[in-house]
Amino acid sequence: MSILSAQSPDAIQKAIDCLKNGDLVAFPTETVYGLGADARNGHAVAKIFEAKGRPSFNPLILHFADESRIAAYAEMTDQARLLATHFWPGPMTLVLDRKDNCPASDLVSAGLPTIAVRIPAHPTAQKLLETFGAPIAAPSANKSEEISPTSPAHVQHSLGDAVPLILAGGSCKIGLESTIIDMTGSKPVILRPGSITAEDLHTALGEDIGSAENLSDKPLAPGMMKKHYAPSIPLRMNAIDLQPGEALLAFGSDKFMGIKGGGAAKDLPDSMRCNLSERADLYEAAANLFAMMRMLDHTDHTGIAVMEIPDKGIGIAMNDRLRRASA
Ligand code: TXA
Ligand code: MG
Repeated sequence: MSILSAQSPDAIQKAIDCLKNGDLVAFPTETVYGLGADARNGHAVAKIFEAKGRPSFNPLILHFADESRIAAYAEMTDQARLLATHFWPGPMTLVLDRKDNCPASDLVSAGLPTIAVRIPAHPTAQKLLETFGAPIAAPSANKSEEISPTSPAHVQHSLGDAVPLILAGGSCKIGLESTIIDMTGSKPVILRPGSITAEDLHTALGEDIGSAENLSDKPLAPGMMKKHYAPSIPLRMNAIDLQPGEALLAFGSDKFMGIKGGGAAKDLPDSMRCNLSERADLYEAAANLFAMMRMLDHTDHTGIAVMEIPDKGIGIAMNDRLRRASA
């Protein structure tokens, strides 16, 4: 496996050679790192499922350089176009009806009549997609059920030699996976919350957005199993104190956090205490979430206690991921 700085002169060309060859390339997006393959090459797409240990009924997101290229693959509705104008390139994925002669491998949509599409904003992702000239199918670049990677080191740690090339572009700015919106029903439904919130979508569309949680007649995104994003030790939300042996994932001031049986959070060693955002900024916290969950995920700790994250804005998506990690 090799890790190439995305800035180095021949990095993009090497990545294109890999993709053309039917091999996998991990690349940065503004949300999390993706594990990419040529979406038209079924053999290459199959390698994604193999590398991740992912059930093949879990479909992938198609990444495009720009909107004009989507038409051959998926049905862009008027509402989808409106959302595209507001939020692409960016951290938004739309689930659309798959076109009859869609050139993508059937494996990408795992046999569903729909297909998920996204235009990422990260300059390296843009450059890669633009130069490749065709869509790249990519899930997050981690083993199935693990925490999504927000740095090249996470990808390397999770996938090792299963990925021949990692394009390294630093830490991901947003740090949470894209908002997924199902556009195939009578009204748009959020399948996975993200940094683009229901309010943002409401403002853009001028109509209410459904949430998959209170919806019984539609399946969730198949990959949104209750247990997901899981560290190897128990994770506890809304903690107001610590059990002995627990590591602390703080948000805002942790001065008042005590340890049951004696002691205070501030006496914990650095290896047991991370703060998502000392100034209680939700965006800073979201960008740190997965990396800090990884840092505290150590079998020396009896668990991870997470302080309360306000359930508003991007905090809704953070709590969604934390709930799954604690399931
Ligand atoms: O930010 C992101 O979305 C990242 C970057 C790399 O783009 N990608 C990502 O992919 O998080 P992944 O595979 O880890 O999560 C994609 C989710 C899965 O839960 C999958 O089930 C769902 O999207 N999905 C894909 N196609 C779908 C479809 N046709 N209908 C419903 N859900 C779909
Ligand atoms: Mg994933």
